[in-house]
Amino acid sequence: MKDNEFNAEIKKAIEKAVDILHKGQLVAIPTETVYGLAADALNPEAVVRIFELKKRPRIDPIIVHCSSLEEVRSYVAHLPHEARILAENYWPGPLTLVLKKKDLIPDIVTAGLPFAGFRVPKHPLTLKLIEKFAKPLAAPSANRFGKISPTTAQAVYEEFDQLIPMILDGGPCQVGIESTVVSFAQNPPLLLRFGAISKEEIERKIGPVNVPSSDTGWNLAPGRFPKHYAPSTPLEIIHRLSDIPPHKRQNCALLYWGEEDSQGFKIARNLSPKRSFSEAAVNFFQMMRELDKSGVEKIYALLLPEKELGVAINDRLKKAAGL
Ligand code: TXA
Ligand code: MG
Repeated sequence: MKDNEFNAEIKKAIEKAVDILHKGQLVAIPTETVYGLAADALNPEAVVRIFELKKRPRIDPIIVHCSSLEEVRSYVAHLPHEARILAENYWPGPLTLVLKKKDLIPDIVTAGLPFAGFRVPKHPLTLKLIEKFAKPLAAPSANRFGKISPTTAQAVYEEFDQLIPMILDGGPCQVGIESTVVSFAQNPPLLLRFGAISKEEIERKIGPVNVPSSDTGWNLAPGRFPKHYAPSTPLEIIHRLSDIPPHKRQNCALLYWGEEDSQGFKIARNLSPKRSFSEAAVNFFQMMRELDKSGVEKIYALLLPEKELGVAINDRLKKAAGL
């Protein structure tokens, strides 16, 4: 296809998506992290459709996606200095900031909380779509609640088939795991979800942040459900491959990285032979999906080193294991 034909196709797809969103229907959108299931963030009936389709509990708030920091400012009642520093450094990018919202953002989006999560995603199609729509998009990951997040248009298709009017195909996600969520509902800020930007990076920019503990209230850290990102197949975390003797490998799968010897497993996936965290993140959900579909009894997963993106990947593995 020639360049101008390609551009005309994209323009047509974005116009169609804008139309669907104006009607209060849903569109699956590509982002650099994972695919999102988007609705007009200012239309409560449209946002309800997201909760229903995902089977998501109404107490779990949804991220509001904008096309720039300037747009975010028009929906935020107060932008703390540290939040502005993070926004200027990482937007567009895999960071969500939880900030005091204006009344313009309907309560259903935030599960009734006075704070909303905002993010400017880094994907040209979705940025263009938000600009053309001229309103923010409420969008959780495009999977059923608690299941594996989709990193390709095909994965969204398999999850929802005919149930959404449109999937905007923007190719495979370049980062592969969800945004880091930092809440400014208290001081010091709270790191609500480990994600594509590490805690160390955040702290280098704005100083210490806290991580919620079991006694952190729901109003500060909603949606931190233990079993999450879960395959249908049981998943068990292991620390050394030698813990699994040959007779226990036969009808099982292995998820690992580096140069381990995966012999004896029915199926194995290597997140990154050269032990690159970013490559492992890109492959993570897709490989989980493949192992889950392989019909094995159990998936064994080796934890990655607990640093950089390894923290976010391990966090998802532990939640998939129900830990
Ligand atoms: O990378 C991402 O963040 C992807 C893409 C599509 O942008 N979105 C995503 O959304 O992962 P979701 O709904 O799967 O996860 C959003 C997380 C949830 O744990 C939710 O509880 C939290 O962010 N969150 C959203 N709004 C919040 C708020 N107002 N206060 C506290 N936590 C919030
Ligand atoms: Mg999700």
